Amino acid sequence: MYDAVDRILIDRDSIADRVEQLGQQLVSGLRPAAAAGRLVVLPVMTGSLFFTADLLRHLPLSFRIQPITVSSYPGRSTTSQGIVGQTPLPPGLDGATVLLIDDILDSGRTMGHLCEQLKTAGAADVRCCVLLRKDIARAVEVDCEYVGFDIPEVFVVGYGLDYDGLYRNMPDISVLKSSVIS
Ligand code: IMP
Ligand code: MG
Repeated sequence: MYDAVDRILIDRDSIADRVEQLGQQLVSGLRPAAAAGRLVVLPVMTGSLFFTADLLRHLPLSFRIQPITVSSYPGRSTTSQGIVGQTPLPPGLDGATVLLIDDILDSGRTMGHLCEQLKTAGAADVRCCVLLRKDIARAVEVDCEYVGFDIPEVFVVGYGLDYDGLYRNMPDISVLKSSVIS
């Protein structure tokens, strides 16, 4: 156990099991778009790095992976600041079915904002997939079809999730110690 964390919330085996189930769900939902050559996968970096890598290996479908980088919790903040930095969307989204993947749905601002942008860019269908969904009242309602786990309102790190850029490499998802948050 790392010093910075209080307790494990979701251990690595539970993550792996759930990611495999989600993969099966995604395969049935996305097969037609993939067969038509219309599927584009957009992982939101950096938080969804590990989730994306594990999830997509359960998708025996044909698609391109086009990561975008978004920052919404800069530095040491633990409450959503809205999108503060984003790389441009990839070209060629007109008529595409887009699978948007993020680590966690919190205020909904990140996914909500990206969904709007993707529709403006001509995406025919945008599907949202998150590993975690916080049980809070969302500032922006997002229709998220694929959700790994619902979690309480705690600040978590590990399996891609960070605090001030750290702890992403922890294999389990853990609750950060309040003494670490400054
Ligand atoms: P939203 O825009 O408020 O929904 O925030 C989503 C983004 O905030 C995610 O992509 C994460 O990067 C970050 N985030 C939200 N909650 C947590 C958390 O508990 N730990 C680490 N990052 C978080
Ligand atoms: Mg993120």
